[in-house]
Amino acid sequence: LPWYHYQPMRKPARNDLPAIVLKRNSNRPLNEQLRSEIAQIILAGKLRPGARLPSTRRLSQELGISRNTVNEAYDQLAAEGYLQSAVGIGTRVVPTLPPELLRPGRPQRTKLHGTRLSLRGNEIAKVTIALDRIESGAGTQIGNPALDLFPFDTWKRLMAQQVERLSHAEFGYANPAGFQPLREQIAAHLARSRGLRVTSNRIIVVAGAQQALDLTARLLLDDGDPVLFENPGYPGARAALMGAGAHLRPVAIDGEGMNVGSLSSVDRQARAAYVTPAHQFPLGPTMTLSRRLALLEWAEEQNAFILEDDYDGDFRHAGKPISAIASLDTYDRVIYVGTFSKVMLPSLRLGFMVVPEELVTQITSVRGFMDRHSPVLEQATLAAFLELGYFARHIRHMREVYTERRALLITELLNHTNDLLDIYAPETGAHIIANLHGISGQRAAKAIGTQEIAIVPLSHYYFEPTKSNGLLLNFANSTAAGIQRSVRNIARALRGQRRSKS
Ligand SMILES: Cc1ncc(COP(=O)(O)O)c(C=O)c1O
Repeated sequence: LPWYHYQPMRKPARNDLPAIVLKRNSNRPLNEQLRSEIAQIILAGKLRPGARLPSTRRLSQELGISRNTVNEAYDQLAAEGYLQSAVGIGTRVVPTLPPELLRPGRPQRTKLHGTRLSLRGNEIAKVTIALDRIESGAGTQIGNPALDLFPFDTWKRLMAQQVERLSHAEFGYANPAGFQPLREQIAAHLARSRGLRVTSNRIIVVAGAQQALDLTARLLLDDGDPVLFENPGYPGARAALMGAGAHLRPVAIDGEGMNVGSLSSVDRQARAAYVTPAHQFPLGPTMTLSRRLALLEWAEEQNAFILEDDYDGDFRHAGKPISAIASLDTYDRVIYVGTFSKVMLPSLRLGFMVVPEELVTQITSVRGFMDRHSPVLEQATLAAFLELGYFARHIRHMREVYTERRALLITELLNHTNDLLDIYAPETGAHIIANLHGISGQRAAKAIGTQEIAIVPLSHYYFEPTKSNGLLLNFANSTAAGIQRSVRNIARALRGQRRSKS
Protein backbone atom coordinates (compact mmCIF):
# COMPACT_ATOMS: atom_id res chain seq x y z
CA LEU A 1 0.00 0.00 0.00
CA PRO A 2 1.20 3.53 -0.64
CA TRP A 3 1.95 5.50 2.48
CA TYR A 4 -1.27 7.46 2.20
CA HIS A 5 -4.64 6.68 0.80
CA TYR A 6 -7.63 8.70 -0.22
CA GLN A 7 -11.16 7.64 0.55
CA PRO A 8 -12.95 8.58 -2.64
CA MET A 9 -16.10 6.60 -1.75
CA ARG A 10 -16.96 8.93 1.12
CA LYS A 11 -18.37 12.19 -0.15
CA PRO A 12 -16.38 14.93 1.51
CA ALA A 13 -18.58 17.00 3.76
CA ARG A 14 -17.97 20.68 4.12
CA ASN A 15 -14.80 21.32 5.99
CA ASP A 16 -13.70 17.80 5.22
CA LEU A 17 -10.59 16.68 3.48
CA PRO A 18 -9.97 13.23 2.10
CA ALA A 19 -7.68 11.35 4.47
CA ILE A 20 -4.15 12.59 4.55
CA VAL A 21 -1.34 10.58 5.99
CA LEU A 22 1.97 12.29 6.53
CA LYS A 23 5.21 10.44 6.58
CA ARG A 24 6.95 11.32 9.78
CA ASN A 25 10.31 9.71 9.14
CA SER A 26 10.71 11.32 5.73
CA ASN A 27 13.32 14.04 5.27
CA ARG A 28 10.71 16.05 3.42
CA PRO A 29 9.38 18.69 5.84
CA LEU A 30 5.82 18.07 7.10
CA ASN A 31 4.53 21.43 5.85
CA GLU A 32 5.77 20.57 2.36
CA GLN A 33 4.17 17.11 2.50
CA LEU A 34 0.89 18.67 3.57
CA ARG A 35 1.09 21.35 0.90
CA SER A 36 1.68 18.78 -1.78
CA GLU A 37 -1.14 16.48 -0.54
CA ILE A 38 -3.71 19.28 -0.53
CA ALA A 39 -2.57 20.51 -3.94
CA GLN A 40 -3.00 16.98 -5.35
CA ILE A 41 -6.45 16.70 -3.81
CA ILE A 42 -7.51 19.99 -5.42
CA LEU A 43 -6.00 19.14 -8.83
CA ALA A 44 -7.75 15.76 -8.76
CA GLY A 45 -11.09 17.55 -8.29
CA LYS A 46 -11.65 15.98 -4.87
CA LEU A 47 -12.22 19.38 -3.30
CA ARG A 48 -14.46 21.62 -5.39
CA PRO A 49 -13.61 25.24 -6.18
CA GLY A 50 -14.95 27.33 -3.31
CA ALA A 51 -14.99 24.41 -0.84
CA ARG A 52 -13.96 25.34 2.66
CA LEU A 53 -10.98 23.75 4.32
CA PRO A 54 -10.81 22.75 7.96
CA SER A 55 -9.51 25.41 10.27
CA THR A 56 -5.81 25.23 11.01
CA ARG A 57 -6.62 24.28 14.60
CA ARG A 58 -8.80 21.34 13.57
CA LEU A 59 -6.49 20.04 10.90
CA SER A 60 -3.49 20.27 13.19
CA GLN A 61 -5.36 18.25 15.83
CA GLU A 62 -6.54 15.65 13.33
CA LEU A 63 -3.09 15.15 11.89
CA GLY A 64 -1.23 15.50 15.17
CA ILE A 65 1.04 18.26 13.90
CA SER A 66 1.61 21.84 15.00
CA ARG A 67 -0.71 24.61 13.91
CA ASN A 68 2.29 26.41 12.57
CA THR A 69 2.94 23.60 10.12
CA VAL A 70 -0.63 23.80 8.81
CA ASN A 71 -0.37 27.59 8.59
CA GLU A 72 2.79 27.33 6.54
CA ALA A 73 1.17 24.83 4.16
CA TYR A 74 -1.97 26.99 3.77
CA ASP A 75 0.11 30.15 3.21
CA GLN A 76 2.17 28.46 0.53
CA LEU A 77 -0.96 27.10 -1.19
CA ALA A 78 -2.46 30.59 -1.10
CA ALA A 79 0.69 32.04 -2.66
CA GLU A 80 0.54 29.40 -5.39
CA GLY A 81 -3.08 30.20 -6.20
CA TYR A 82 -4.85 27.11 -4.74
CA LEU A 83 -6.37 28.64 -1.63
CA GLN A 84 -7.84 31.90 -0.47
CA SER A 85 -8.34 33.12 3.06
CA ALA A 86 -10.61 35.87 4.25
CA VAL A 87 -11.81 37.00 7.62
CA GLY A 88 -15.19 35.48 8.36
CA ILE A 89 -15.12 32.73 5.78
CA GLY A 90 -11.83 31.06 6.68
CA THR A 91 -9.74 29.23 4.11
CA ARG A 92 -11.27 27.88 0.92
CA VAL A 93 -10.31 26.59 -2.47
CA VAL A 94 -10.07 29.49 -4.95
CA PRO A 95 -13.65 29.64 -6.28
CA THR A 96 -12.63 30.70 -9.78
CA LEU A 97 -10.67 27.52 -10.54
CA PRO A 98 -12.31 26.10 -13.68
CA PRO A 99 -13.78 22.70 -12.56
CA GLU A 100 -13.36 21.20 -16.04
CA LEU A 101 -9.58 21.51 -15.68
CA LEU A 102 -9.61 19.61 -12.40
CA ARG A 103 -9.83 16.02 -13.55
CA PRO A 104 -10.73 13.32 -11.04
CA GLY A 105 -8.43 10.37 -11.36
CA ARG A 106 -6.17 12.34 -13.63
CA PRO A 107 -2.94 10.39 -14.15
CA GLN A 108 0.10 11.99 -12.56
CA ARG A 109 2.06 12.05 -15.81
CA THR A 110 1.39 10.98 -19.34
CA LYS A 111 4.08 10.16 -21.85
CA LEU A 112 4.54 12.54 -24.73
CA HIS A 113 3.46 10.98 -27.99
CA GLY A 114 5.09 11.83 -31.28
CA THR A 115 8.02 14.13 -31.78
CA ARG A 116 8.40 17.53 -30.24
CA LEU A 117 11.42 18.69 -32.25
CA SER A 118 11.16 21.21 -35.06
CA LEU A 119 12.17 20.04 -38.54
CA ARG A 120 15.49 21.81 -38.06
CA GLY A 121 15.91 20.35 -34.59
CA ASN A 122 15.25 16.89 -35.98
CA GLU A 123 17.94 17.31 -38.62
CA ILE A 124 20.47 18.56 -36.08
CA ALA A 125 19.66 15.74 -33.66
CA LYS A 126 20.00 13.13 -36.42
CA VAL A 127 23.44 14.41 -37.38
CA THR A 128 24.73 14.81 -33.85
CA ILE A 129 23.42 11.47 -32.60
CA ALA A 130 25.10 9.69 -35.52
CA LEU A 131 28.37 11.57 -35.00
CA ASP A 132 28.24 11.08 -31.26
CA ARG A 133 28.57 7.35 -31.85
CA ILE A 134 31.74 8.10 -33.76
CA GLU A 135 33.09 10.28 -30.98
CA SER A 136 32.51 7.69 -28.30
CA GLY A 137 33.79 5.01 -30.67
CA ALA A 138 35.35 1.98 -29.11
CA GLY A 139 37.33 3.98 -26.57
CA THR A 140 35.27 6.40 -24.54
CA GLN A 141 38.36 8.30 -23.43
CA ILE A 142 39.46 9.15 -26.94
CA GLY A 143 40.19 12.84 -26.52
CA ASN A 144 41.39 13.06 -22.93
CA PRO A 145 44.84 14.39 -22.01
CA ALA A 146 46.86 12.91 -19.11
CA LEU A 147 44.33 13.74 -16.42
CA ASP A 148 46.37 12.48 -13.48
CA LEU A 149 49.36 14.71 -14.28
CA PHE A 150 47.52 18.01 -14.06
CA PRO A 151 48.94 20.21 -11.25
CA PHE A 152 45.74 20.21 -9.22
CA ASP A 153 47.42 21.62 -6.08
CA THR A 154 48.67 24.69 -7.94
CA TRP A 155 45.26 25.13 -9.54
CA LYS A 156 43.53 24.91 -6.17
CA ARG A 157 45.87 27.50 -4.67
CA LEU A 158 45.50 29.93 -7.58
CA MET A 159 41.75 29.55 -7.55
CA ALA A 160 41.56 30.30 -3.83
CA GLN A 161 43.73 33.39 -4.41
CA GLN A 162 41.41 34.57 -7.16
CA VAL A 163 38.36 34.26 -4.90
CA GLU A 164 40.15 36.71 -2.61
CA ARG A 165 41.45 39.01 -5.32
CA LEU A 166 38.47 39.44 -7.58
CA SER A 167 36.25 42.36 -6.66
CA HIS A 168 32.55 41.90 -5.97
CA ALA A 169 31.84 43.64 -9.26
CA GLU A 170 33.86 41.02 -11.10
CA PHE A 171 31.51 38.33 -9.84
CA GLY A 172 28.62 40.04 -11.61
CA TYR A 173 27.82 39.76 -15.33
CA ALA A 174 31.04 40.01 -17.26
CA ASN A 175 32.30 40.84 -20.73
CA PRO A 176 31.22 38.03 -23.12
CA ALA A 177 34.55 38.42 -24.95
CA GLY A 178 36.38 37.16 -21.87
CA PHE A 179 38.28 38.19 -18.74
CA GLN A 180 40.68 40.86 -19.95
CA PRO A 181 43.87 39.61 -18.23
CA LEU A 182 43.24 36.16 -19.75
CA ARG A 183 42.80 37.62 -23.23
CA GLU A 184 46.13 39.38 -22.80
CA GLN A 185 47.85 36.21 -21.63
CA ILE A 186 46.44 34.29 -24.61
CA ALA A 187 47.69 37.00 -26.98
CA ALA A 188 51.18 36.71 -25.46
CA HIS A 189 51.08 32.90 -25.70
CA LEU A 190 50.05 33.01 -29.38
CA ALA A 191 52.83 35.46 -30.22
CA ARG A 192 55.40 33.26 -28.47
CA SER A 193 54.29 29.88 -29.73
CA ARG A 194 52.37 30.35 -33.00
CA GLY A 195 53.94 33.43 -34.56
CA LEU A 196 50.52 35.01 -34.30
CA ARG A 197 50.67 38.66 -33.28
CA VAL A 198 47.25 40.01 -32.44
CA THR A 199 45.91 42.55 -30.01
CA SER A 200 43.89 41.08 -27.16
CA ASN A 201 40.68 42.72 -28.42
CA ARG A 202 40.62 40.21 -31.29
CA ILE A 203 40.61 37.30 -28.84
CA ILE A 204 37.29 35.96 -27.63
CA VAL A 205 37.31 33.45 -24.80
CA VAL A 206 34.78 30.68 -25.44
CA ALA A 207 33.57 27.42 -23.90
CA GLY A 208 36.06 25.24 -25.78
CA ALA A 209 36.68 24.81 -29.50
CA GLN A 210 33.18 23.41 -29.87
CA GLN A 211 31.56 26.74 -29.04
CA ALA A 212 33.92 28.61 -31.34
CA LEU A 213 32.92 26.31 -34.20
CA ASP A 214 29.24 26.61 -33.38
CA LEU A 215 29.37 30.41 -33.11
CA THR A 216 31.26 30.77 -36.37
CA ALA A 217 28.94 28.43 -38.23
CA ARG A 218 25.83 30.18 -37.00
CA LEU A 219 27.13 33.65 -37.72
CA LEU A 220 28.90 33.24 -41.02
CA LEU A 221 26.97 30.54 -42.86
CA ASP A 222 23.57 30.44 -44.49
CA ASP A 223 21.48 27.33 -44.91
CA GLY A 224 22.94 25.27 -47.73
CA ASP A 225 26.28 27.09 -47.90
CA PRO A 226 28.98 24.71 -49.17
CA VAL A 227 31.92 24.22 -46.80
CA LEU A 228 35.12 22.32 -47.58
CA PHE A 229 35.80 19.74 -44.92
CA GLU A 230 38.72 17.39 -44.31
CA ASN A 231 37.99 13.76 -45.13
CA PRO A 232 38.53 11.99 -42.78
CA GLY A 233 37.78 14.72 -40.27
CA TYR A 234 36.71 15.79 -36.81
CA PRO A 235 33.07 14.89 -35.96
CA GLY A 236 32.69 17.79 -33.49
CA ALA A 237 33.29 20.33 -36.24
CA ARG A 238 31.12 18.39 -38.70
CA ALA A 239 28.21 18.50 -36.27
CA ALA A 240 28.60 22.23 -35.57
CA LEU A 241 28.71 23.10 -39.27
CA MET A 242 25.90 20.77 -40.32
CA GLY A 243 23.85 21.96 -37.37
CA ALA A 244 24.01 25.45 -38.91
CA GLY A 245 22.77 24.04 -42.23
CA ALA A 246 26.11 23.92 -44.07
CA HIS A 247 26.54 21.46 -46.93
CA LEU A 248 29.86 19.82 -46.31
CA ARG A 249 32.13 19.04 -49.25
CA PRO A 250 34.60 16.33 -48.27
CA VAL A 251 38.14 16.96 -49.48
CA ALA A 252 40.60 14.04 -49.35
CA ILE A 253 43.63 14.44 -47.12
CA ASP A 254 47.06 13.48 -48.40
CA GLY A 255 50.49 13.79 -46.78
CA GLU A 256 50.40 17.60 -47.06
CA GLY A 257 46.91 18.20 -45.69
CA MET A 258 43.95 19.61 -47.64
CA ASN A 259 44.68 20.50 -51.26
CA VAL A 260 42.55 23.31 -52.67
CA GLY A 261 44.43 22.88 -55.96
CA SER A 262 42.58 19.60 -56.53
CA LEU A 263 39.07 21.02 -56.12
CA SER A 264 36.39 20.67 -58.76
CA SER A 265 35.08 23.96 -60.10
CA VAL A 266 31.89 23.47 -58.05
CA ASP A 267 33.77 22.87 -54.81
CA ARG A 268 35.97 25.89 -55.45
CA GLN A 269 32.86 28.01 -54.90
CA ALA A 270 32.60 27.00 -51.23
CA ARG A 271 31.96 29.65 -48.59
CA ALA A 272 34.41 28.29 -46.04
CA ALA A 273 36.98 25.61 -45.30
CA TYR A 274 37.52 23.78 -42.02
CA VAL A 275 41.11 22.64 -41.48
CA THR A 276 43.37 21.28 -38.72
CA PRO A 277 46.67 22.35 -40.27
CA ALA A 278 49.04 21.86 -37.32
CA HIS A 279 48.07 18.22 -36.96
CA GLN A 280 45.33 17.00 -39.24
CA PHE A 281 42.67 15.15 -37.27
CA PRO A 282 42.75 12.16 -37.41
CA LEU A 283 45.44 11.26 -40.00
CA GLY A 284 48.15 13.55 -38.65
CA PRO A 285 50.00 15.36 -41.43
CA THR A 286 51.03 18.97 -40.92
CA MET A 287 49.78 21.16 -43.75
CA THR A 288 52.71 22.30 -45.87
CA LEU A 289 53.47 25.97 -46.40
CA SER A 290 52.56 25.88 -50.09
CA ARG A 291 49.15 24.35 -49.25
CA ARG A 292 48.61 27.04 -46.60
CA LEU A 293 49.38 29.82 -49.03
CA ALA A 294 47.13 28.22 -51.67
CA LEU A 295 44.32 27.97 -49.15
CA LEU A 296 44.64 31.66 -48.24
CA GLU A 297 44.70 32.61 -51.90
CA TRP A 298 41.58 30.55 -52.54
CA ALA A 299 39.79 32.21 -49.60
CA GLU A 300 40.66 35.65 -50.88
CA GLU A 301 39.52 34.82 -54.44
CA GLN A 302 36.23 33.26 -53.33
CA ASN A 303 35.50 35.70 -50.53
CA ALA A 304 35.45 32.66 -48.26
CA PHE A 305 36.77 32.14 -44.75
CA ILE A 306 39.06 29.56 -43.18
CA LEU A 307 38.29 27.90 -39.87
CA GLU A 308 41.68 26.96 -38.47
CA ASP A 309 41.32 24.47 -35.61
CA ASP A 310 44.61 24.24 -33.70
CA TYR A 311 43.43 21.83 -31.01
CA ASP A 312 46.70 20.13 -30.02
CA GLY A 313 49.47 22.00 -31.84
CA ASP A 314 51.36 22.49 -28.57
CA PHE A 315 52.37 18.85 -28.59
CA ARG A 316 55.03 18.71 -31.24
CA HIS A 317 57.46 15.96 -30.38
CA ALA A 318 60.34 17.41 -32.39
CA GLY A 319 60.87 21.17 -32.38
CA LYS A 320 58.53 24.05 -31.66
CA PRO A 321 54.83 24.28 -32.57
CA ILE A 322 54.10 25.24 -36.16
CA SER A 323 53.08 28.82 -36.96
CA ALA A 324 49.38 29.29 -37.52
CA ILE A 325 47.82 29.95 -40.95
CA ALA A 326 46.32 32.98 -39.22
CA SER A 327 49.87 34.35 -38.86
CA LEU A 328 50.19 34.42 -42.68
CA ASP A 329 46.76 35.91 -43.21
CA THR A 330 46.93 39.39 -44.68
CA TYR A 331 43.35 39.20 -45.97
CA ASP A 332 41.50 38.77 -42.67
CA ARG A 333 40.08 35.46 -43.84
CA VAL A 334 41.04 33.21 -40.95
CA ILE A 335 39.13 32.42 -37.80
CA TYR A 336 41.65 30.75 -35.55
CA VAL A 337 40.37 28.38 -32.85
CA GLY A 338 42.36 27.20 -29.83
CA THR A 339 41.37 25.17 -26.79
CA PHE A 340 42.61 24.43 -23.28
CA SER A 341 41.02 20.96 -23.43
CA LYS A 342 44.17 19.20 -24.60
CA VAL A 343 46.88 21.16 -22.78
CA MET A 344 44.91 21.50 -19.57
CA LEU A 345 41.60 19.76 -18.85
CA PRO A 346 38.57 19.23 -21.12
CA SER A 347 36.19 19.81 -18.21
CA LEU A 348 37.42 23.41 -17.87
CA ARG A 349 35.44 24.19 -21.03
CA LEU A 350 37.71 27.05 -21.95
CA GLY A 351 39.04 27.85 -25.37
CA PHE A 352 39.41 30.92 -27.52
CA MET A 353 39.04 32.26 -31.01
CA VAL A 354 40.98 34.93 -32.83
CA VAL A 355 38.67 36.77 -35.17
CA PRO A 356 39.09 39.52 -37.77
CA GLU A 357 38.74 42.97 -36.27
CA GLU A 358 35.43 43.79 -37.98
CA LEU A 359 33.74 40.66 -36.59
CA VAL A 360 34.69 41.18 -32.95
CA THR A 361 31.58 43.15 -31.98
CA GLN A 362 29.07 40.85 -33.68
CA ILE A 363 30.61 37.63 -32.45
CA THR A 364 30.90 39.02 -28.93
CA SER A 365 27.25 40.08 -28.82
CA VAL A 366 25.96 36.80 -30.19
CA ARG A 367 28.04 34.89 -27.66
CA GLY A 368 26.59 37.12 -24.96
CA PHE A 369 23.09 36.05 -25.89
CA MET A 370 24.04 32.36 -26.05
CA ASP A 371 25.46 31.71 -22.60
CA ARG A 372 26.61 35.20 -21.56
CA HIS A 373 30.26 34.37 -20.88
CA SER A 374 32.62 31.74 -19.50
CA PRO A 375 32.90 31.50 -15.71
CA VAL A 376 35.05 34.36 -14.45
CA LEU A 377 36.67 32.51 -11.56
CA GLU A 378 38.04 29.84 -13.90
CA GLN A 379 39.15 32.46 -16.41
CA ALA A 380 40.94 34.46 -13.73
CA THR A 381 42.61 31.33 -12.37
CA LEU A 382 43.73 30.39 -15.87
CA ALA A 383 45.08 33.91 -16.46
CA ALA A 384 47.21 33.58 -13.30
CA PHE A 385 48.26 30.06 -14.37
CA LEU A 386 49.57 31.49 -17.64
CA GLU A 387 51.06 34.65 -16.17
CA LEU A 388 53.02 32.86 -13.47
CA GLY A 389 54.58 30.40 -15.91
CA TYR A 390 52.71 27.27 -14.76
CA PHE A 391 51.11 26.89 -18.17
CA ALA A 392 54.44 26.88 -20.04
CA ARG A 393 55.81 24.44 -17.47
CA HIS A 394 52.82 22.12 -17.78
CA ILE A 395 53.07 22.11 -21.57
CA ARG A 396 56.79 21.27 -21.33
CA HIS A 397 56.04 18.49 -18.89
CA MET A 398 53.21 17.07 -21.02
CA ARG A 399 55.35 17.26 -24.13
CA GLU A 400 58.01 15.14 -22.40
CA VAL A 401 55.42 12.69 -21.09
CA TYR A 402 53.68 12.33 -24.46
CA THR A 403 56.98 11.98 -26.29
CA GLU A 404 57.89 9.14 -23.91
CA ARG A 405 54.47 7.49 -24.13
CA ARG A 406 54.49 7.76 -27.90
CA ALA A 407 57.98 6.25 -28.12
CA LEU A 408 56.97 3.43 -25.78
CA LEU A 409 53.81 2.69 -27.75
CA ILE A 410 55.77 2.58 -31.00
CA THR A 411 58.49 0.32 -29.53
CA GLU A 412 55.94 -2.02 -28.02
CA LEU A 413 54.01 -2.23 -31.28
CA LEU A 414 57.22 -2.89 -33.20
CA ASN A 415 58.18 -5.61 -30.72
CA HIS A 416 54.85 -7.38 -30.49
CA THR A 417 52.86 -6.61 -33.63
CA ASN A 418 55.46 -5.98 -36.32
CA ASP A 419 54.01 -8.67 -38.59
CA LEU A 420 50.45 -7.49 -37.98
CA LEU A 421 50.47 -3.78 -38.74
CA ASP A 422 52.37 -0.73 -39.96
CA ILE A 423 52.66 2.40 -37.87
CA TYR A 424 52.15 5.96 -38.93
CA ALA A 425 53.26 8.30 -36.16
CA PRO A 426 52.94 12.02 -36.89
CA GLU A 427 55.24 14.43 -35.06
CA THR A 428 52.42 16.17 -33.26
CA GLY A 429 49.66 15.19 -30.90
CA ALA A 430 48.65 12.34 -28.68
CA HIS A 431 47.65 9.59 -31.07
CA ILE A 432 49.20 7.47 -33.77
CA ILE A 433 47.69 5.45 -36.60
CA ALA A 434 48.15 1.71 -37.08
CA ASN A 435 47.49 0.23 -40.52
CA LEU A 436 46.47 -3.36 -39.98
CA HIS A 437 47.44 -6.19 -42.31
CA GLY A 438 44.41 -7.91 -43.80
CA ILE A 439 41.75 -6.88 -41.29
CA SER A 440 39.47 -3.87 -41.15
CA GLY A 441 39.87 -1.38 -38.33
CA GLN A 442 36.27 -1.93 -37.32
CA ARG A 443 36.63 -5.70 -36.96
CA ALA A 444 39.93 -5.29 -35.17
CA ALA A 445 38.58 -2.71 -32.72
CA LYS A 446 35.71 -5.04 -31.87
CA ALA A 447 38.04 -7.96 -31.31
CA ILE A 448 40.45 -5.88 -29.23
CA GLY A 449 37.76 -4.36 -27.01
CA THR A 450 38.28 -1.59 -24.48
CA GLN A 451 41.89 -1.09 -23.48
CA GLU A 452 43.90 1.36 -21.39
CA ILE A 453 44.81 3.24 -24.55
CA ALA A 454 41.86 4.60 -26.52
CA ILE A 455 41.25 2.80 -29.82
CA VAL A 456 38.94 3.94 -32.63
CA PRO A 457 38.66 2.55 -36.17
CA LEU A 458 39.72 5.19 -38.66
CA SER A 459 36.71 4.40 -40.86
CA HIS A 460 34.58 6.23 -38.27
CA TYR A 461 35.96 9.58 -39.38
CA TYR A 462 35.22 9.28 -43.09
CA PHE A 463 32.17 10.75 -44.77
CA GLU A 464 31.47 7.69 -46.86
CA PRO A 465 31.42 4.07 -45.68
CA THR A 466 35.08 3.12 -45.91
CA LYS A 467 36.86 -0.19 -45.68
CA SER A 468 39.84 1.26 -43.86
CA ASN A 469 42.38 -0.93 -42.12
CA GLY A 470 43.37 1.98 -39.94
CA LEU A 471 43.13 2.21 -36.17
CA LEU A 472 43.61 5.38 -34.18
CA LEU A 473 45.53 4.71 -30.95
CA ASN A 474 45.50 7.49 -28.36
CA PHE A 475 48.14 7.19 -25.65
CA ALA A 476 47.73 10.52 -23.82
CA ASN A 477 45.86 9.27 -20.78
CA SER A 478 47.61 5.89 -20.31
CA THR A 479 50.49 4.94 -18.06
CA ALA A 480 53.54 3.07 -19.35
CA ALA A 481 52.23 -0.15 -17.84
CA GLY A 482 48.83 0.51 -19.41
CA ILE A 483 50.42 0.99 -22.83
CA GLN A 484 52.36 -2.28 -22.46
CA ARG A 485 49.29 -4.23 -21.38
CA SER A 486 47.23 -2.71 -24.21
CA VAL A 487 49.77 -3.64 -26.88
CA ARG A 488 49.94 -7.24 -25.62
CA ASN A 489 46.14 -7.44 -25.75
CA ILE A 490 46.10 -5.92 -29.24
CA ALA A 491 48.66 -8.48 -30.43
CA ARG A 492 46.71 -11.34 -28.90
CA ALA A 493 43.41 -10.19 -30.40
CA LEU A 494 44.87 -9.61 -33.87
CA ARG A 495 46.57 -13.03 -33.87
CA GLY A 496 43.29 -14.60 -32.79
CA GLN A 497 41.53 -12.92 -35.70
CA ARG A 498 44.21 -14.08 -38.11
CA ARG A 499 43.90 -17.70 -36.89
CA SER A 500 40.10 -17.67 -37.07
CA LYS A 501 40.32 -16.47 -40.67
CA SER A 502 42.80 -19.11 -41.84
C1 LIG B 1 40.08 18.36 -34.05
C2 LIG B 1 39.63 18.75 -32.69
N1 LIG B 1 39.26 20.02 -32.45
C3 LIG B 1 38.88 20.42 -31.21
C4 LIG B 1 38.85 19.55 -30.16
C5 LIG B 1 38.55 20.05 -28.76
O1 LIG B 1 37.30 20.46 -28.53
P1 LIG B 1 36.88 21.25 -27.20
O2 LIG B 1 37.78 22.43 -27.04
O3 LIG B 1 35.49 21.65 -27.49
O4 LIG B 1 37.02 20.33 -26.04
C6 LIG B 1 39.17 18.22 -30.36
C7 LIG B 1 39.04 17.27 -29.26
O5 LIG B 1 39.09 16.08 -29.37
C8 LIG B 1 39.59 17.81 -31.65
O6 LIG B 1 39.96 16.54 -31.86
